[in-house]
Amino acid sequence: MAPKLLVWYDRHARVLPWRILPGGGTPDPYRIWLSEVMLQQTTVAAVKDYFLRFTALWPTVQDLAAAEDAHVMAEWAGLGYYARARNLLACARQVAHAGGFPEDRGGLRALPGIGPYTSAAIAAIAYDQPETVVDGNVERVVSRLFAVETPLPAAKPELTALAETLTPHIRPGDFAQAMMDLGATICTPRSPACGICPLLDDCDARAAGIAADLPRKAPK
Ligand code: ADE
Repeated sequence: MAPKLLVWYDRHARVLPWRILPGGGTPDPYRIWLSEVMLQQTTVAAVKDYFLRFTALWPTVQDLAAAEDAHVMAEWAGLGYYARARNLLACARQVAHAGGFPEDRGGLRALPGIGPYTSAAIAAIAYDQPETVVDGNVERVVSRLFAVETPLPAAKPELTALAETLTPHIRPGDFAQAMMDLGATICTPRSPACGICPLLDDCDARAAGIAADLPRKAPK
């Protein structure tokens, strides 16, 4: 399954300012970290301009660490959740002091503002470690691939375990981003575009004719 998805990603990856194009070199952990923190509760479309502005003002983690608090908070205005901006600065200062980002999920997880999701995303995307990155898009894709009938949120551990079975040891970072892109562009919540999905033949929900009905949600 992963090789098929990576072939699709090589052709159809969204071009985003924090991404390296296939074959384009090594990702900068600072840029991956910054993008993932910005993306924690904000859409890709909204994050793009903020990311470009931040990296223009502060091209390295040392630059951000040396910034005035008020300047960073002012630039963050509009992204919301100001605790994220405060954690961002605390994290930048800790990392600058340590001389760089930790290179494993556990070390990343110990930094301010980095939870289980963000630590997995950075380890996979910046360091190509075989960590499984599960956001809402990935939950939806996996629930459909395996036709999981358990409703969310109870299904979360099951979906994470299934997602782990898919994560490849080759290009896990691209795989993580490919799953996000598939969920954002093809395996969408309503009217999924199954006809052009690279995983059409692997999808249990599609075979059962219930792709658009998954994931099930527990009544509120
Ligand atoms: N959402 C969170 N992280 C992302 C990424 N790296 N690419 C696209 N969407 C994302």
